[in-house]
Amino acid sequence: MLCRVGVLVSGRGTNLQSIIDKSISGEIDAEVVVVISDNPKAQALNRARKVGIKALYLDPATEKPILVGGAEDKYLQVLKENQVDLVCLAGFMRVLKEKFISEYKWRIMNIHPALLPSFKGLHAQRQALNSGERFSGATVHFVTEDVDGGPIILQAVVPIYQDDTEESLSQRILKEEHRIYPECINLLAKGKIQIKDNKVIIGEING
Ligand code: GAR
Repeated sequence: MLCRVGVLVSGRGTNLQSIIDKSISGEIDAEVVVVISDNPKAQALNRARKVGIKALYLDPATEKPILVGGAEDKYLQVLKENQVDLVCLAGFMRVLKEKFISEYKWRIMNIHPALLPSFKGLHAQRQALNSGERFSGATVHFVTEDVDGGPIILQAVVPIYQDDTEESLSQRILKEEHRIYPECINLLAKGKIQIKDNKVIIGEING
C-alpha cells in the first residue's frame, strides 16, 4: 500500500516537487495527499495544485517561528482528515511542539541543508561557508523536540570550493536534497527503517 504523505512547506517547494515527481513516476511507494503552508504566497502551493494535489494555507496565528495552540490543532486535524501516514517538512520554517510531535511520533521527517549536527538553525549554508569547512551537505532526519537534532536517516556530502558563494553552495546541496529526501520516504514506506537507542537502522526488518 502506498504511504500517504503530508508535506509542510513555507516557500519555493523544490523538495516538494522532487517528492511529487518521484511519486508520480512510481519511483517511491508514496503518494502526496496534502500540502499545507504557513505562507499563503508559497510557490509550493502552486506546484501541488498544478498536479491536482490538495494544497492549503493554514494561518499559523503567530509571528513567532513556532507552531502552537490552535494552529497546531488545525494542522493536525487536516493531516488526520487526509489519513496521512508520514509528515514531511520541506522548507517549513517553523518549529513543531511536543503535542504535534507525539501525535506523529517517528513519522515526521525534515530536511536540513547541512551535515547535522553541524550548522543547525537558519542559514546553514552560510554557516558552513563561514566556518571554512571543506565539505557540507544535506541531512534528512526524524523530527523530535530537539530542533534539528533528531535521529539521522540519510546524509549526502558535497565539497565546498574556495570560490563558492552562498548561492552556489546552496544549489550543490539542493541537488542532493532532491535525491535523498524521496529515498528516505521510500525507505520508510517499504518498512526498512527502525529506531534503536535513538539511532536509525536501515535494512530489512525481521520479526
Ligand atoms: C531547502 O534547502 C531546505 O533544506 C531548507 O529550506 C530549503 C527549502 O527549499 N530547510 C531548512 O533550512 C530547514 N531548517 P525548497 O522550498 O525549494 O524545498
